[in-house]
Amino acid sequence: MSLFKWSSAHSVYLPEIDAEHRALYRLGDELHKAMLAGADPVHLKPVVDNLLESAEQHFRHEERLMRAIHYTSFDWHKRQHDAVRKKAKALAKRIDAGDSAATGELLEFFSEWMRGHLGVADRMMGARLRNYLRFNTSLAS
Ligand SMILES: [Fe+2]
Repeated sequence: MSLFKWSSAHSVYLPEIDAEHRALYRLGDELHKAMLAGADPVHLKPVVDNLLESAEQHFRHEERLMRAIHYTSFDWHKRQHDAVRKKAKALAKRIDAGDSAATGELLEFFSEWMRGHLGVADRMMGARLRNYLRFNTSLAS
C-alpha cells in the first residue's frame, strides 16, 4: 500500500502550496519504495535528508505567507509544524545511529501527519490566503 498517494482531496487550492505538497508526497513515496526494495540505509540517508530539508523549506514558506497576512491561527498552525520538526529530528538521529526501524516510523508518522494537517490546518490557511488575495493583488512570499 502506498503511504504517499496524492489525490485532489489533498488540494488546498493554492497552486504554489499544492506543488510543494505534491513534491513532498513524491519524495515520501520515493523513500518508501526504496525502503521496501531493501535499499541499504547508507543509500536511503540522502533521500531522508532531502525529504526533511524540503519539508523544512515548505514549512518556512507557509509560515512566511501566514505572517504576511497576520493570520490569526498562525501560532496553532506553527505548533503543528514544530511538532513534526521535533519528531523528525529525533527520528533522523535514530536513522543516523543505524536504527533500521526508524525510517519506516518516519514515513508512517509523516504520511499520517500530512493527511491530517493538509485536510484541516492547510485548508484553513488556503481559504484565508485566497480570501486575502481577492482584495490584495500581491503577497510577499
Ligand atoms: Fe502547514
